Amino acid sequence: MTAEHPSPDLSFEQVDPVYRAFIEDYLRLHGVDPVKFCKPLPGQDEMFFNAILPNYEFDSSISAFKFVESAMRLGEAYRQIAEGVFGGFDKLGTVLDFASGWGRLTRLLEQRLRPDQIYVADIYHQAIDWQVATFGVNGVHSAKDPAVFDHAGKHDIVLVGSMFSHLPTELFHQWLERLYRLVGPRGVLAFSVHDEAILPAGEVMDASGLHYLRFSESSSLDLDIYGMSYVTEAFVGAAIARLAPGLSWRRFPKGLYENQDLYVVGAPGVDLSGLTLASSPMGGFESVATLSNGDLEFSGWAIERTPGATISQVSVHVGGAPVLSVVPGIERPDVLKHFPGSANAPVGWSFRLSRDQAQAGATVRAHLQSSSGLTGYCYARAPEPATFTYSGWSRRALR
Ligand SMILES: C[S@@+](CC[C@H](N)C(=O)[O-])C[C@H]1O[C@@H](n2cnc3c(N)ncnc32)[C@H](O)[C@@H]1O
Repeated sequence: MTAEHPSPDLSFEQVDPVYRAFIEDYLRLHGVDPVKFCKPLPGQDEMFFNAILPNYEFDSSISAFKFVESAMRLGEAYRQIAEGVFGGFDKLGTVLDFASGWGRLTRLLEQRLRPDQIYVADIYHQAIDWQVATFGVNGVHSAKDPAVFDHAGKHDIVLVGSMFSHLPTELFHQWLERLYRLVGPRGVLAFSVHDEAILPAGEVMDASGLHYLRFSESSSLDLDIYGMSYVTEAFVGAAIARLAPGLSWRRFPKGLYENQDLYVVGAPGVDLSGLTLASSPMGGFESVATLSNGDLEFSGWAIERTPGATISQVSVHVGGAPVLSVVPGIERPDVLKHFPGSANAPVGWSFRLSRDQAQAGATVRAHLQSSSGLTGYCYARAPEPATFTYSGWSRRALR
């Protein structure tokens, strides 16, 4: 896909029915209406077509599931900010999703807030126009230059997901200053970055604390304004200190997406010292084997990225009903390379189900239950008796 030749839109109707069933179940577990959420993915969405899809070998069904998973993880972080800072979604005024792209978060937020409470902004004006037309939210066109970005609103939550992680030094400071001015008196600015812990091998952090690489998933944004940047906490702390003296701010390692750190900065006088925010546990099935007695043995991996938390158990549901639970006890150092700089070691788990427990075609759902209070979910389908097979998608789900 290029800016001139976008992919065709991806409708969820095109997704393999097995994955569609996983997606619908997953959304319902999070209290999200699948019909409203599963609007087609616009072919110009670079986040989906240039980042997620190639990561899953251009399998659109797996990628659609991964898109939904990532949206729910984003939603879980957002929920914790809404609850931890304001006491819940019903206490929020207006919110701005800056660098919203094509509205991965809007699909969820429109189910939590009224459309007139939601503002979205992006340099891709067609993405904003699509969101305005599709969700009825307020759209703001952004610009390359923060000085000409024209928006005067004040918001309770200004979220900037995965934009500061792509900015060179000067723009980092300029956008931080510009977006902080949009935070209302009781509000917060929340933004994600690539921490130095995930600096690619062979790269060396600059003395300034921001290291900028001239590549990105975007096929149209100029590399002078959007590449890949990696920062130290000292760099971000100093950038926040330039906004105003004595601001309360917190860093949540791996707080957003798979590997980005989330920083939350309060408006003057807003104390964030009590804010807690955990990352959703991640994991997936990797194999299912049919044993000689016909039982099925499933195995998979999981990682808890929240410092100090652990995945205490994996509970297994078949067709929606709980069947058994296991404590993950296998070391999986091979998984760590996908989660560099993670506070906790990845773990493996396995369990057996008889054919009575898991008939062919049954949906098997593993709940990765964390001591943080959050749960991750992963899915497999019980195979036909004659097959002895990997579940296929899950090995790739390691990415
Ligand atoms: C990696 S995507 C993240 C999209 C979205 N936050 C999400 O999680 O799906 C980065 C987004 O930053 C946007 N962006 C880059 N420079 C921008 C600017 N100057 N103003 C507004 N948006 C910008 C890009 O257009 C793109 O949509």
